[in-house]
Amino acid sequence: MSAPGLAVVRSVAELRRRVAAWRAAGDTIGLVPTMGALHAGHLALVAAARERCRRTVVSIFVNPKQFGPCEDFATYPRPETADFAKLSATSAELAFVPSIDEMYPEGFSTAINVSGIGEGLCDAHRPGHFDGVATVVAKLLIQTAPDAAFFGEKDYQQLMVVRRMARDLDLPVEIVGVPTVREPDGLALSSRNAYLSADERRLAPHLNRALREAAAEITGGAAPAPVLERAISALTDRGLRVEYLELRDAATLAPVASRAARPARLLAAVHLGRTRLIDNLPVPPPAPSRS
Ligand code: PAF
Repeated sequence: MSAPGLAVVRSVAELRRRVAAWRAAGDTIGLVPTMGALHAGHLALVAAARERCRRTVVSIFVNPKQFGPCEDFATYPRPETADFAKLSATSAELAFVPSIDEMYPEGFSTAINVSGIGEGLCDAHRPGHFDGVATVVAKLLIQTAPDAAFFGEKDYQQLMVVRRMARDLDLPVEIVGVPTVREPDGLALSSRNAYLSADERRLAPHLNRALREAAAEITGGAAPAPVLERAISALTDRGLRVEYLELRDAATLAPVASRAARPARLLAAVHLGRTRLIDNLPVPPPAPSRS
């Protein structure tokens, strides 16, 4: 199926043929990897790709390798027709929508593991998740050979894992992080927000609120540990089950116990009913003293 102005391509061979034609014409190429169920956050990635590159490829693939056995792979939303309609209204030229067999033919045996930055935080609660992400993103980058690939900062650890992987494997691509798009009440956009009941939706913005308050206190000079403890208690009291809420170095994701002269990142994951929400915010380093 194709939508007006948007080519829908389902095989790696056809993707390569089209990308090669663009390359021959001297065009630059941006890749926006997604799992579909597109929202304004994804469209911001497409807009960022268009700013830097002449052509934009959006991949839509619900990647089984990044879901745990008890996670929502089977029920993850797959509104293909609506996604094509949304992309048709953007500047993207091509949707790459491979099947599972196209991505992982019989006998597929390779996995990419990014140690260090890919450990702890989400990985501690979703073991193997980042191996699945790194493996599929490496394949998409090799298949498309883009100049730049665009990822949302909402999945901050994912962005860092992909950046590390691309560097370590000498993939000639720029990995671009795009700021999180939020609802007016602060909730970060996510395809999984569709799972929230009306009551849960009312509670969900507390995650961002707790992060904003904690980030402001730490930026103001408060010691991180008690601030984080208070934020966790406040969320728990409202019925959000906190998986983690931590202050990490923004570049290495190493734990930060006291505010140092380097940018930090406050990252959290919570459960609200059956929905897992993640969010993160920057915590800038202290301004240099004038004395
Ligand atoms: O962030 C996502 O939607 C996915 O993890 C990604 C990067 C498309 C890989 O499947």
